[in-house]
Amino acid sequence: MAPLISIRTSNGKLEIVNQLLLPHTTEFIEIDSVEDAHDAIKTMKIRGAPAIASLAALSLSQHIKRGLAVSLSDSPEWLQSQEALKKHIDGILAFLYTARPTAVNLGAATRRLQKTLDSGIAAGKGPHVIAEELVAEANAVADEDVGRNMEMAKWAGEWLWKRVQGYTSAPSSVNVLTVCNTGSLATSGYGTALGMITYLHETGKLQKAYYTQTAPYHQGSRLTALELQTLQIPSVMICDTMVGSLFQHHDIHAVVVGADRIAKNGDTANKIGTYNAAVLAARHKVPFIVVAPISTVDLDIENGTQIPIEQRPALEACLVRGVPYPNNGQADQVQIMITPAGLEGIYNPSFDVTPAELITAIVTEKGVAVKAEGASTFDLSAIVKLL
Ligand code: MRU
Repeated sequence: MAPLISIRTSNGKLEIVNQLLLPHTTEFIEIDSVEDAHDAIKTMKIRGAPAIASLAALSLSQHIKRGLAVSLSDSPEWLQSQEALKKHIDGILAFLYTARPTAVNLGAATRRLQKTLDSGIAAGKGPHVIAEELVAEANAVADEDVGRNMEMAKWAGEWLWKRVQGYTSAPSSVNVLTVCNTGSLATSGYGTALGMITYLHETGKLQKAYYTQTAPYHQGSRLTALELQTLQIPSVMICDTMVGSLFQHHDIHAVVVGADRIAKNGDTANKIGTYNAAVLAARHKVPFIVVAPISTVDLDIENGTQIPIEQRPALEACLVRGVPYPNNGQADQVQIMITPAGLEGIYNPSFDVTPAELITAIVTEKGVAVKAEGASTFDLSAIVKLL
């Protein structure tokens, strides 16, 4: 079966799969403006660090293309001068940037587009030329994602494979655990951590992929489950509370996760529950691998304490969504409240930070970074600048 997709552009339309309705309903919704894109990201109809950056960029591209499509004499006011273009695009980029705070990819994409805008202006180019350049750059943000995912997946898969071949009793295939959803739905295609799992499967090196349900949003049980099922990758779902038990009773060769932001020293923000898995992995001497594009590394942040952590609405931790069970042909989804009504005092951070000390390797499209002998942190500035 073909891999799932998060974003599609066809017949001049920009559409996303409404991930709130997966896995039971596949509904494409049209993104017709930058406001629609902002809302879809904020309400998590689309999620996953690279996917939200791609959608933000593509919505800007769509907006500019519409302006460029009208005849010169009818051009919108914002295309009439450099100053007007700058004011207009500055405003859109600032707005898109506020959609979700933790994933650095969104900021990296808006900064990249800002640079295209500002350098076009500094070079004295006309507004139409700069607008064309912005469209090309915005499309590149989305298009580049798939290729680099395949590269990082291969680096990560081969690195793990080489490592386990050095074990006294080398396994003939590996079991890996992942958290959240980092596959095609979270990116423009193939995925990061789930990309590594796919690569291991495609090359005959994977025994089983285990994944946590990832409460409260259930990116694991709703989205990763669907992706692995679609790709026919042998897999096992576990509840978030079962990671310790899994390590005690099963041979798990690695934990592999994605990232929303990686600080200069390697501290990594990812979906809530990642830190728990890292602590348990360290206790059980299971390698802990982070797979993410270089654009996820934020060199402006020294360590994880400076990463802004998004707090989601309390209500989201009180609700589950699904279809009635047993399902007697009622396809309609329902939301069920699992807490007493009016419950107060709910802690609902969307992400946690795994300290670099607990991370064995950080893998990007350019290769594998490990810590220097005896070090408890990474020096990613050296690596990122070298690349
Ligand atoms: O809140 P979400 O679903 O956007 O969180 C997603 C994650 O934490 C992913 O692991 C991360 O964005 C990497 S996706 C390739």
